[in-house]
Amino acid sequence: MKTAQGIWNEDLIWQARRGLELGRAFCRCEGHYHSLWGALRAAGVSTGLKSEEPLLASLIYPFIRDNARVMIGGSADPGVLCAVGRIYSPSRPRITVIDKCRAPLELIREFTAIKGLACRTLNLDLFDLDGSEQWDQIILHYTPDFMEPKIHGRLFRTLARSLASGGTLVCAAMTGTSVAGGYQQDAGSVFFDYSWRTLQDSPLADLAPSSEFEQMLQTYAANVGLRRLSLPTSKELRETLSAAGLRTLREATTPRKQRSVEGVTLLDSNSIVVASRD
Ligand SMILES: C[S@@+](CC[C@H](N)C(=O)[O-])C[C@H]1O[C@@H](n2cnc3c(N)ncnc32)[C@H](O)[C@@H]1O
Repeated sequence: MKTAQGIWNEDLIWQARRGLELGRAFCRCEGHYHSLWGALRAAGVSTGLKSEEPLLASLIYPFIRDNARVMIGGSADPGVLCAVGRIYSPSRPRITVIDKCRAPLELIREFTAIKGLACRTLNLDLFDLDGSEQWDQIILHYTPDFMEPKIHGRLFRTLARSLASGGTLVCAAMTGTSVAGGYQQDAGSVFFDYSWRTLQDSPLADLAPSSEFEQMLQTYAANVGLRRLSLPTSKELRETLSAAGLRTLREATTPRKQRSVEGVTLLDSNSIVVASRD
């Protein structure tokens, strides 16, 4: 039986395989990001959203409005949409997902069509928003990690113009990575080793023997390493929001799940900030 919340359940294995097909067809992002994201999530390499949902919910609850217009700015798959659906339930917000890559949007369209869920998708760059459409809540789930910190200010100013009066920006971002126990090992190579082993021990183990897949994962992991080189601290994130005219209402910083291979461990943390226009 479908419960009110059950409609937001995902099928991670289907999403991983379909995401790989759609990624090959449409994704030109660095590191084959959308081709591999679903497989890494289904295998348990990326578990952030699941473990973080109660915290995200506690930060979002006080700011839920009836008939809310919610925009998810950047989404690799239906995960954030489903988390928002559960958090808002039984309320049904009008959700728009924006991404500059067509691959995740196609996956979200297929997912919502199968489930009979309403969700609008827009294939555009967040920097191209002109403020003509307003949202009660804008959710960035690690999208800033995909941009140089020096352009975060421009992103937040652009999004501030798209917030309805009294609306809130929920911004989750990674705020620091280090490698423990590894002599001269970089975050990318630790990530590759951990992902490769975890995939081989998962229901998606059949993907791993292909040399094309291994090559794609090497590139993906190298990009993960590069992105982690220039993360802001949580203080810098709040300061950039403030300089963009956004006042922090709530903030939580937590360590991420540790990923270890042969004594080498990736250490990083997440910050989630809820902010509104001054
Ligand atoms: C880190 S991923 C989101 C992963 C997220 N944790 C999830 O569960 O879906 C960030 C997404 O933002 C998108 N993105 C990055 N920069 C963007 C931009 N300037 N405009 C629109 N989308 C963007 C990427 O294509 C990617 O799908």
